[in-house]
Amino acid sequence: MPGCVRVSRVPAEATYALRRAVLRPRLRLADMAMPGDDDPATVYLAVLGAADDILSTLRLQPVPCPWSPARTDAWQLRSMATAKHARGLGHGAALVAAAVRRIADQGGGLLWCNARVPAEPFYVRAGFTAAEHRWDDLEFGPHVGMVQEVPAS
Ligand SMILES: CC(C)(COP(=O)(O)OP(=O)(O)OC[C@H]1O[C@@H](n2cnc3c(N)ncnc32)[C@H](O)[C@@H]1OP(=O)(O)O)[C@@H](O)C(=O)NCCC(=O)NCCS
Repeated sequence: MPGCVRVSRVPAEATYALRRAVLRPRLRLADMAMPGDDDPATVYLAVLGAADDILSTLRLQPVPCPWSPARTDAWQLRSMATAKHARGLGHGAALVAAAVRRIADQGGGLLWCNARVPAEPFYVRAGFTAAEHRWDDLEFGPHVGMVQEVPAS
């Protein structure tokens, strides 16, 4: 249950190894930094294991939504990854719930992501709906844009 999982804010570098292993195995660890990591509004959230190892992570940053460019309150969720041995335990859902709470606390907005199609049901369970925007990424396969309206708390 998401409510039972402890979510922490962690430095970007702490997420490199898990993100690389799960999402970008062809990249070097040093290539895992992303533009905007230094933006004070950018956050990496994580679920930590007993040894403070990162079991699941996501990244949240205020970024305009490509298919709703007029929205000035858009937040991009990306780098969503759970370690293989820790999947199906609610960690990913807990992180999305924490991201939604952060946005709600900051006045609400449009949460969006570029989802890999195999992960689409996960995002639907987490409250997203698919936008019409679908495309094939040469390296990572079919993608779908997904959105969630977050009301202010
Ligand atoms: C997608 C991913 C982040 C899900 O993380 P997780 O911690 O295992 O997810 P949770 O345990 O919180 O799952 C929450 C719900 O989504 C469901 N779910 C998770 N992944 C799913 C999938 N691939 N297909 C269908 N349902 C899925 C779970 O069954 C659970 O449903 P429930 O609420 O009915 O119990 C994880 O599978 C992963 O890292 N995948 C590889 C990387 C990836 O594709 N990332 C997304 C890139 S856009």
